[in-house]
Amino acid sequence: EKGGYEHFMLKEIHQQPQTLADCMRGRLSLEAPYVKLGGVDEYEKTISNAKRFIIAACGTSWHAGLIGEYLFEDLARIPVEVEYASELRYRNPIIQEGDVVIALSQSGETADTLAALELAKDKGAMLYGVVNAVGSSIARLTDAGSYIHAGPEIGVASTKAFTGQVALLTMMAISLGYKRGRIPNSYFHKLISELHNIPAKIERALRCEEQIKYIAKEIKDRQNALYLGRGFNFPVALEGALKLKEISYIHAEGYPAAEMKHGPIALIDEEMPVIVIATNRSAYDKVVSNIQEVKARKGMVIAVVTEGEKTISEMADYTIEIPDTEEPLTPLLSVIPLQLLSYHIAVMRGCNVDQPRNLAKSVTVE
Ligand code: F6R
Repeated sequence: EKGGYEHFMLKEIHQQPQTLADCMRGRLSLEAPYVKLGGVDEYEKTISNAKRFIIAACGTSWHAGLIGEYLFEDLARIPVEVEYASELRYRNPIIQEGDVVIALSQSGETADTLAALELAKDKGAMLYGVVNAVGSSIARLTDAGSYIHAGPEIGVASTKAFTGQVALLTMMAISLGYKRGRIPNSYFHKLISELHNIPAKIERALRCEEQIKYIAKEIKDRQNALYLGRGFNFPVALEGALKLKEISYIHAEGYPAAEMKHGPIALIDEEMPVIVIATNRSAYDKVVSNIQEVKARKGMVIAVVTEGEKTISEMADYTIEIPDTEEPLTPLLSVIPLQLLSYHIAVMRGCNVDQPRNLAKSVTVE
């Protein structure tokens, strides 16, 4: 059942080249080229003319939603708000006809997300589901949607569902951006061919596993960890921190890298490992200076960089290389080493990786 892997989580991490290929199959064509999402095409007018998108989700799915915000804003120029479903449902939120509410959920059964959708429906919004579990409550309640086709996710810590959600939102943003005339032809082609290459690049990113085990040994007895990222990779920092908390019980926080100096820098000393996602071309110099600030305070820096990167590799204690891609697609690659890192740290600490204490796979009560 675990396909030769020690845990479901490890199997699911390694399945990602395949699950993402499944997610994109039939939806993406290099030759034409096109991006086709049944749910989006069916409601094209409503979605394309939406005044704004409201993304509602919990936990890891909420992190995928934050990446969605960057994607829709950057590629399709659609205003987006990302909400914790648990907050949205109790806030008397301003939701109107013309709004599209996108629910992200692996299980399709999360009580808070379902309740937020019921509320949005009453207020006249169109509901779109990005769901893994076929035929689940959220899939049934929404007007339209797209399955991510990740297959059953057994490990409590979500991995392949996260990348599936991000890939789906990426396809949606590219498709809408193109239809709305916000993406020039050449960039459209480039994004499609890069997306097509993502499964093979994840395969390559997974090769860092031996190195990750080595780094995991260095971190496993620490009390805290800090994750930093910017732009598209800020939500990946949040996700890396959540993965570590959930399965290894090490306290971790994710921050936008530039926020460090507004508080968290006070925590940095020789005991603090800082995991920095440093793949963004657009804020490269700024991330370099964040790393210098950490090193000046004797923090341990683990940097996730683009293959061939030199400057950061010389400054960081450890560097993990991932393949280059277009910036909006980097989260699909940068999250891979963070998933592996949390997994191996948890195993070394003797934790129950697939069923961490106090957690359930789907939270069907408040
Ligand atoms: C994280 C995790 C949870 C879920 C959250 C939402 O690894 O498993 O944070 O992401 O409970 O669940 P779904 O996506 O099923 O609505």
